[in-house]
Amino acid sequence: MRRVLTYGTFDLLHYGHINLLKRAKALGDYLIVALSTDEFNALKGKKAYHNYATRKMMLEAVRYVDLVIPENNWEQKIDDIKKYDVDIVVMGSDWADSDRFRYLEQYCSLVFLERTKGISTTQIKDTLGNR
Ligand code: CTP
Repeated sequence: MRRVLTYGTFDLLHYGHINLLKRAKALGDYLIVALSTDEFNALKGKKAYHNYATRKMMLEAVRYVDLVIPENNWEQKIDDIKKYDVDIVVMGSDWADSDRFRYLEQYCSLVFLERTKGISTTQIKDTLGNR
């Protein structure tokens, strides 16, 4: 059983998120989403519209997602990989040019997936905010 892990906030769940989750799941058999907590988002200077419990409930309703765990900080990834016996970590292509996550390759495979064009949580917020 190949286990895949990805990270994110997944606020105002949209088709870009679903595309990412579908492709991440297709890389293996079991998909874990480490979902940024409200506290971690605050640390990143980000505020989600939906709180953690709501974002988690919505992600758990997505057929590609097998497990949602909290993402509390930047440093937990190696522990997550070991604890959940992860084979592949998936990140959005926004991070592909940075070396920030390369260290994970000592523990598992690291795959960057292209973002879906034309949609983001920020864009939805901006569009609705201007109506
Ligand atoms: N993602 C994607 N395509 C999009 C938007 C997001 O593939 N159009 C992916 C991101 O690369 C990430 C995951 O979905 O792997 C969660 O991204 P997140 O930052 O929560 O969503 P965004 O819509 O990018 O939110 P924001 O605008 O706040 O950055």
